[in-house]
Amino acid sequence: MIVLPTIKGFRAARAKVATLGFVPTMGFLHEGHLALVRRAVAENEVAAASLFVNPTQFSPNEDFARYPRARERDLELLESAGCDMVFAPEADEMYPAGFDTSVHIGGITEVLEGAIRPGHFAGVATVVAKLLNIVQPTSAYFGQKDAQQVAVIQKLVRDLDIPVQVVVHPTVRELDGLALSSRNSYLSAAERQNALVLSRALHAVERLYGAGERSAEILRAAMATEIGAVPSAQPDYMSVADPITLQELGTVGPEGALVSLAVRIGATRLIDNVVLSG
Ligand code: PAJ
Repeated sequence: MIVLPTIKGFRAARAKVATLGFVPTMGFLHEGHLALVRRAVAENEVAAASLFVNPTQFSPNEDFARYPRARERDLELLESAGCDMVFAPEADEMYPAGFDTSVHIGGITEVLEGAIRPGHFAGVATVVAKLLNIVQPTSAYFGQKDAQQVAVIQKLVRDLDIPVQVVVHPTVRELDGLALSSRNSYLSAAERQNALVLSRALHAVERLYGAGERSAEILRAAMATEIGAVPSAQPDYMSVADPITLQELGTVGPEGALVSLAVRIGATRLIDNVVLSG
């Protein structure tokens, strides 16, 4: 596995291969990231990952400075997953003096995560556009865990005609249902237990939907009941939305729904989602 910190160096190595699968990450890797990497390894001649904690997708009051970092461990994990190339730039390689461009995507970035974290998706879209231009993958792999991010990247690729196939991989969970996340490392043992309320709330919705319930209001109320039962859990949103436009639904129709929520457990903000098929 080769590790390349510069754009020039990465481009030179990339030019030698025809098809390449790419997994962008912010590091502190877990089984969710590694599932994407293993899939990229299995489906492509060469697999690449990036390690870059992107400052522009964090608001000033967010956890950029304390976001967990474990570079050497990440490199070992990538190597054992079969990854061939790693792009691991410093911030000034990606954002040199004079950098002054931002990719703004309308509509779908204004709701859910975008409403709570203004500027977040401009940061994500900008860095992903740069990474796709640098890495020039034939396929790029993203996790369903960040469902709105997937929608944003699919729109970015479509609207800017970026020649890449976007592959979406299912959310990887712990045995007890908690979706894997680098931010789970912030949780105390008691908070870790309380964090199960996210997957429990989504399960409640799936059960009701399976039993025939189609009122989005009733499905949202079921999430609120589960979350309300854990006093330290503070929801930012509980959404039943159109899977393409991300607009809130009144009734779940044949297009199905994206059911998503963001909940603060103490100082840690967690997100999770499930898709209801129509
Ligand atoms: P990061 O949070 O490190 O996640 C990297 C990729 O791993 C994303 O596509 C994310 O959806 C996926 N992932 C995280 N947890 C997962 C899980 N439990 N199951 C399946 N996939 C999971 O997302 C980002 O970084 C950044 O926004 C990035 C796209 C790298 C741009 O900076």
